[in-house]
Formats: sequence, C-alpha cells, structure tokens
Amino acid sequence: MDPLLSWRKEFPILETNVHMISHSLGAMPRRAYERMHEYAETWSTRGIRAWEEGWWEMPVTVGSLISRIIGAAPGEIVMQQNVSTCAATVLSCFDWSGRRNKIVSEALNFPSNLYQCHALERVGARLVTVPSEDGIGVPLERMLAAIDGETQLVFVSHVLFRSSFIQDLGAIAQRAHEVGALVLADIYQSAGTVPVDVHALGVDFATGGSVKWLCGGPGAGYLYVRRDLWPKLAPRFTGWMAHKQPFAFDAGAIDYAEDAFRFLNGTPAIPALYAAQSGYEIIAEVGVERIREKSMRQTARLIECAQDAGFRVNSPRTPTERGGTVVIDVPHGEAVTKELLRRNFLVDYRPGAGIRVAPHFYSTDEELGLTVREIQAILQQMPAAVTVT
Ligand SMILES: Cc1ncc(COP(=O)(O)O)c(C=O)c1O
Repeated sequence: MDPLLSWRKEFPILETNVHMISHSLGAMPRRAYERMHEYAETWSTRGIRAWEEGWWEMPVTVGSLISRIIGAAPGEIVMQQNVSTCAATVLSCFDWSGRRNKIVSEALNFPSNLYQCHALERVGARLVTVPSEDGIGVPLERMLAAIDGETQLVFVSHVLFRSSFIQDLGAIAQRAHEVGALVLADIYQSAGTVPVDVHALGVDFATGGSVKWLCGGPGAGYLYVRRDLWPKLAPRFTGWMAHKQPFAFDAGAIDYAEDAFRFLNGTPAIPALYAAQSGYEIIAEVGVERIREKSMRQTARLIECAQDAGFRVNSPRTPTERGGTVVIDVPHGEAVTKELLRRNFLVDYRPGAGIRVAPHFYSTDEELGLTVREIQAILQQMPAAVTVT
C-alpha cells in the first residue's frame, strides 16, 4: 500500500479525472477553499486594516513557506506574480554595456526566459544558447565550456520543461563562480518534485511559480536571492514596495530596503498568495524526498508502458537525469491530447516534444497504465473519435 495515496481525498479533482498534469497545473487542495474564504472574510470585515494585519508582509511570509521546500532560510524569498516578473527583476540588476555582457542559457530553456534575454541584446547583452543534439538534454561539458570570463549571468532551467531533463546546477554554479559570473536558476519544473537546495547548489538567484508541482494555483511566483548579494543589487525593475520607507512616498530616486523587500515592485497579488499557501504546506509535509522516490518509480513505469505500446519517449531514460514528467510522442499528438482531455485524462501537448504526462505524489499506479491504454484506444479509433474543432 502506498502511504502517499492517503492524500488523494485532499484533492477533489482526483475523484473524477485521471490527473497527469502537475507539470502544468497541480491539483487544487481542498484546503484552498478555506484560504480563499479567509481572504474574502478579511477583505470584507477588516478592510484597509488588513494591510497592517498581515497583507503587507505576505510576499515575504508566504515566501518563507517555500524556503523549506527549496533549502532557503526564512525571509530570503519574495513572492511576485510569476517567473517572468522575477526574472525581469534579476536581469534589471545588471549593466550590459561593458565587456562582461554575456548571458549563457540553453536553447531548450523556457521561452519567456529567452525572450527576456533577447530583449537585453538591445542594451548590449550577448546571449549564447547551448544547443541540444537530441531535443531532450543539454551536454554538461558544452554548457560549462560556454561559461567564460565575459559571462555576467548564466540563466538556466534546472529541469527542462520540454523533456524533463535535469541539468547539473551545482556544476554550472561552480563553473560560473570560477569565472566571476552569477547564476539565475529557473526551478519551476523541479521544486516540489525534485529535491532542490539553493544554498547547497550555490545558485545566486532562483525563481519558480506555484501553478505546477506546488499545487498553489496561478499568480504566485517566487524569487530567491543569495543574501550576501542583497546590498550589491539595485533592480531597475522596481516599485514603491522596494523602498526603505515606502510610506514616506519620497519622490526622489529609490532608496532600497535592506531586506528582501528590495526585490519587490508594486502591490502584491494578495488573493493568489492566500490560494497558494495550502499547496506549499502539503508539499512540505509530504516531503520532496518521498515525492521524488515515488516519482522516479512511477515515471520509470510509465516509460515502460509507453515503450511496450510502441510509443517514442522524449525524456531521459536514466532516472537521475529525469524530472517528474514523461513526454510521449505519438502520431497526431495534439489531437490525441484534445480527446484525452475530453475523456477526463488531464495531460498537455508541446509541439516538437509530444504529450506530457506527469504523475504526482497523489497518483495511483493504475492511472499510469490507464493513460497509456487510453492513448492507444484513441489512436485505434482515429479518425472517427478525433474530431478537431
Ligand atoms: C521552466 C518554466 N519556467 C517558466 C514557466 C512560466 O513562467 P511564468 O511564471 O512567467 O508564466 C514555465 C511554465 O509555464 C516553465 O515550465
């Protein structure tokens, strides 16, 4: 008996759906209803006083719930809306006009991350993306070789969204520091399913969001910044919440807060911060080590089922190189995915990769085989069953 299955009753959607999509939208915890209700109650009864009674501090107090999941200390994480704003904050700390103007990333990094780096080419940055030969992984030697004395920032995803390949963040951070560069890690696809310890890995910045493995819903992205860097960093993307004395409403140039507030900007997304907390508490309680153990077993089984069915798998075969998702490439993958959703099998499709299938700690072993068999059934019934609208 799998003890983690006792959590299933906490996630209502599991009663009616085969939920294999925690890499995209984790299941909503039942407790999130209570948190959303608490938000409405606070707003409706406390009104403006709510800011002084917790709302103002929430970007940091809620961030501290994530600290224990990713190895940071309380107070070291601030909540923003998403990874894109967190990355923009970090990228705005640097001057790109000098000789050290290189950003190293991987060609398979999440598009938002690359869009922002490309945009910085307009102000002098040089983006170097390390290619993938097989569309699944990025050779570590190539990544390390690309990091040199002209590199200012290495901006990499810990786990690649397209294939679930895990990059060696520790080795990347070590190399970056040897040549005087800093590392911004996108840990969205690892935090909550693959153990992450930002202190031990030595990354300088880490960002992710709550929508996926953390089961926290949209609107709550987090940013970790290495504490000793704080006094040296002055984000150009900023706002009044980052000011040392925000309520002085000083009209001059910003005087940054000394704590993690310096990485904030404007009014936080308070409802999203209420909604997100239950997921963080549950993930911390279950423990990422236990989640990882189960995930490695279930993803291996899923790969076996997919291969037995004759499907191509676009994720690493070596369990230690693979995050929580298995990408299954079948003919007409997009249409098959639409039909799966119609039949209450929740997965998604990424062009050039395939159908992304992800069990989480609340998934049963039966659901793995069921998902692959449903794909087979749909393919057999095509084109009749697959009417693309
Ligand atoms: C690795 C990774 N980074 C970033 C994002 C999204 O970023 P944002 O929070 O800005 O929507 C995703 C998925 O949506 C992702 O998989």
